Amino acid sequence: MTSAEVVYRARAYDTPGDPFADDAVAPGFRYDDDLGLAVSGDGVIVARGPFATVAAAHPDAVVLDLRAGILLPGLVDTHVHFPQVRVIGALGMPLLEWLERCALPEEQHLADPAYAATIAGEFVAGLIAAGTTTSLVFGSHFAPAVDALFAEAERYGLRVTSGLVVSDRVLPAPLLTTPERAHAEALDLATRWHGRGRLRYAVTPRFSLSASDPMLAACAAVMADIGDACFTSHVNENPAEVATVSGQFPDRAHYVDTYDHHGLLGPLSVLAHDVHPTDAELSVLAATGTAVAYCPTSNSALGSGMFPLRRHVTAGVRVALGSDVGAGTGFSIFKEGLQAYFLQHLLGGEGMRLTAAHLLHLSTAAGAAALGLADTVGDLSEGKQFDAILVRPPAGTSLDIGLRHADSPEGALGKVFALAGDADVAEVWVGGEQVASGGFVRPVSRRPSSEATSCLGH
Ligand code: GUN
Ligand code: ZN
Repeated sequence: MTSAEVVYRARAYDTPGDPFADDAVAPGFRYDDDLGLAVSGDGVIVARGPFATVAAAHPDAVVLDLRAGILLPGLVDTHVHFPQVRVIGALGMPLLEWLERCALPEEQHLADPAYAATIAGEFVAGLIAAGTTTSLVFGSHFAPAVDALFAEAERYGLRVTSGLVVSDRVLPAPLLTTPERAHAEALDLATRWHGRGRLRYAVTPRFSLSASDPMLAACAAVMADIGDACFTSHVNENPAEVATVSGQFPDRAHYVDTYDHHGLLGPLSVLAHDVHPTDAELSVLAATGTAVAYCPTSNSALGSGMFPLRRHVTAGVRVALGSDVGAGTGFSIFKEGLQAYFLQHLLGGEGMRLTAAHLLHLSTAAGAAALGLADTVGDLSEGKQFDAILVRPPAGTSLDIGLRHADSPEGALGKVFALAGDADVAEVWVGGEQVASGGFVRPVSRRPSSEATSCLGH
């Protein structure tokens, strides 16, 4: 038996199974009203079981009673843009107009390293406040800004995969680079950050619309040089975008093929959106093991379309959730889950009837799997890292009342997705380290270890 420093006593929900294995019920959902989770000094869950049993087996561990809230795995955001924190909420435009008028002007400001450092602070605080412990982050076009993001993520101990965004056409000139420079800067960044603690590198052409074949070939060269990097980009988000890409790449079978042609798709690849895929594209995504980031609030805000979740699941394509800040309307993965539920419901027969368990799975385990981290995080099983959040709403709020009167775990979880926001994420842990408590985010490196147990109010 491995020794534990802490035993968490909790009402805990997670989804170690796959609820999409059968879309009528939710076999993957696991709940326990009085669970014990023994966590070692290096953040690993070393025992899981009834609290009394786990506590008796670890008599020297500190016991923390979290039963005033609901303990969930840390949320996973598979698509979120670091430089777009300040453009959240610009409504009423389709993708290409929104990029031109809102996102791209703001992204040019990150050429200033001081500004980029400020945005990195706002961005990381936004993730933590929302309970997002693991994310695949679309970085900046400027290497010093990407350094600032990695440094800030490291300061708070977040699991972040990110990289330099590269483009060599169509965008405003300050955002463009050459394949040679993109290659050199990406390798330089990866050398500094890839595999350092909880950080990893993602090769990130913005989208084929702004990346020529030589640029995509440079991305493939970076992938080969790093060996185990992630890959991310956008695909099939908007009909005008799809038509433009089709005209730019007359020799490719389809949009997905613009990436696949260069060998960029595989089990560590995540393409955002895919609102308008053909069946042939879904086959390629499934065959390569590429995951799709479903970004429901962004798809709604930009009017991109209704995501065909059922077609993805039927084709065997892995799907998880992305906030797509700043086209998406905030950092909350709970909100993305709720919006996914709404849209799939509204699609009628073409949609999927999502239960609260599906939403939790899409928000946690599916995201971890999409990012190749299924063995590390995503649920609260023995052997996983203790990445978790405590949902504990302020007294008297609708969520507080709802949870006290919920008639089942599934009912309580439905209320969490319907009602929970940042104010209800009371505690956040990554790898056993508490990075937020009571609405305050704190760098792990500055936190005296004794503080870890003093702010829980028990
Ligand atoms: N496609 C290319 N860039 C972007 C972006 O920043 N946001 C979204 N939603 N789609 C994109
Ligand atoms: Zn995006």
